[in-house]
Amino acid sequence: MTNSKKTHSQEALITVKSLVKRFEKKQGTIFRRTKSTVHAVNNVNFSIKKGEILGIIGESGCGKTTTARMVMRLTKETSGQILFDGQDLCQMGERELRRARQEMQMIFQDPYDSLNPGMPILEILMEPLNAHKMEVPFEEKRKLVIEILEHIDMKPAETFLYRYPHQLSGGQRQRIAIARALILKPKFVAADEPTSMLDVSVRMGILQLLKSLKEEMGLTMLFITHDLSTAAFMCDRIAVMYRGNIVEIGPIKEIISNPTHPYTKALVAVVSDLHHFLGHRHEMILDGEVQNEVVQGGCPFLARCPQQMDTCQNSIPKLEQLSNDHYVSCFHLHPESLISANKQAN
Ligand SMILES: Nc1ncnc2c1ncn2[C@@H]1O[C@H](COP(=O)(O)OP(=O)(O)O)[C@@H](O)[C@H]1O
Ligand SMILES: [Mg+2]
Repeated sequence: MTNSKKTHSQEALITVKSLVKRFEKKQGTIFRRTKSTVHAVNNVNFSIKKGEILGIIGESGCGKTTTARMVMRLTKETSGQILFDGQDLCQMGERELRRARQEMQMIFQDPYDSLNPGMPILEILMEPLNAHKMEVPFEEKRKLVIEILEHIDMKPAETFLYRYPHQLSGGQRQRIAIARALILKPKFVAADEPTSMLDVSVRMGILQLLKSLKEEMGLTMLFITHDLSTAAFMCDRIAVMYRGNIVEIGPIKEIISNPTHPYTKALVAVVSDLHHFLGHRHEMILDGEVQNEVVQGGCPFLARCPQQMDTCQNSIPKLEQLSNDHYVSCFHLHPESLISANKQAN
């Protein structure tokens, strides 16, 4: 990790400012329709330095995928800014956006869903080349596909060219999805829980592949996971999300050794308590579905927080700096923000 840190430039490739996504949800019967609003992403801010892997961790439904999809321009934001190399993607016209999109790729959670079942591997991997390198002759593109197949350890490459996705294992399919994402040498990759649907036995291989390709190509990455050990292996920094909010963000080592938000503490404790059956209290905190629909004036973590105070019910804590590069949003752990919230309330 120390080595990869040295390669980071201080310059940000991605900067997300005040990003918000709300979904309108229709409920009820045909005669009595009601609408509710899902606050999928609430005022999220982060940046990813060139060459860095930023992780997003949090339980199912907390807004990880929606955040990545907005960065990739697959979901339109309700409001906010997404800067890519200084340019606001949200303000770009079609043509500009098409150019930017070549530099950004996404690896999806489910490799069964993300590869066209009717196409052989050769065609799947040639498709991005066909779209962007029209002038390159077929033989050359085929050679490139063989080269990349060998690179992702699918050997002998020629034996895979005319196979279809259903003839591959889950791990092999995810390797193809990774190759397809990287074949045009993007600058930025968002990987959305790329190993969560795979057999435990092949997960590590996929993570190692991603990490080595990242180093070789000097990629910048957004890496989504719900698993802290995976984050520890992959990420330089991590953002902890809860109900659409980043509640803590910082270097992964710092977050694991000094978790500060009660939710992060519970995440870390579950991992370290796994073998001791000591995690009951923390499991209680982590239990239950995330309810993004409930709108309230207080802290988003209120309902599960073991340390709540009066202020937590009336104001939303801001993300504030705890130490160099480590930010937390919790009144309890941030007496100064408590004072300013009290002043505002008065
Ligand atoms: N297209 C959609 N329409 C309505 N609600 C959605 C849609 N996509 C996501 N949501 C809701 O937004 C919230 C965040 O979802 P998501 O970003 O998929 O979470 P995660 O990836 O962390 O599991 C959830 O409550 C989910 O039900
Ligand atoms: Mg998701």
